[in-house]
Amino acid sequence: MSDAEATSLWAELTSPINLVLLAFIVYLIYKILQSKFESDIDVPPPPPPLPKIRKDLTVAELKQYDGTAPDGRVLLAVNTIIFDVTKGKRFYGPGGPYAAFAGKDATRGLATGQVASSDKDWDDVSDLSADEVASAKEWEEQFREKYDIVGRLLKPGEQPKNYDEETEDKKAQ
Ligand code: HEM
Repeated sequence: MSDAEATSLWAELTSPINLVLLAFIVYLIYKILQSKFESDIDVPPPPPPLPKIRKDLTVAELKQYDGTAPDGRVLLAVNTIIFDVTKGKRFYGPGGPYAAFAGKDATRGLATGQVASSDKDWDDVSDLSADEVASAKEWEEQFREKYDIVGRLLKPGEQPKNYDEETEDKKAQ
C-alpha cells in the first residue's frame, strides 16, 4: 500500500459519517453493558430449591399444594402421577396462566386442551377419546422430562405407599 493509499484509507475511516457511526456503536455497547450490570443488581437470586418430597396424596391433600402456602410449592397430577412443578411457578403459581392446574388433577384439562380443573373427589377419565388419552400421555412424558415425581394420586380408599426405603433408581418409576 502506497503512502497516498494509506492516507486516503485513513481519511475514509475518519470521515464524519464513520465517526458518527463509531460513536453510536460505542454508545450502544455502553448501554448494553450498563443494562446487564443493572439487571445483575436488581434481580434477586432465585430461592434455593425446596427439599424433595416423595409421597402419595389424595385429591384433597393435593389441593394444599397450589402455590399459595408460604413455601410456594406447586404440585399437579397427570395420569395419576403427581409432579412437583414448583420450578414452573411462572406457569402454575397464583396468577399464572395455568394456575387452574395447581394442586389439581390436570389430566382432563391437558387431554382436552382446556385450562380448567374439576373439583371432583376423583376424576375417572375413562370417557376420554383415544386422541385425548394420547395427548395426556404426551403431557405426562413432558412432565417426566422436566419435573420430579412426588408420588401417585390416590383413588378414594387407596392406601399411600411407603417410600422411606426407596432407592434412587426406583424413584423414576
Ligand atoms: C393460544 C393457546 C396457547 C398458547 C399461545 C400457549 C403458549 C404457551 C407458552 C409460550 C408456554 C411456555 C413454554 C415454555 O416457556 O416452556 C406454554 C406452556 C404451557 N402450556 Fe400453553 N399455550 C396455549 C394453550 C394451552 C392450552 C390449551 C393448554 C392446556 C390445556 C396449555 C398448557 C400449557 C402448560 C401446562 C404449559 C407449561 C408446561 C411446563 O410446565 O413446562 N397451553 N404455553
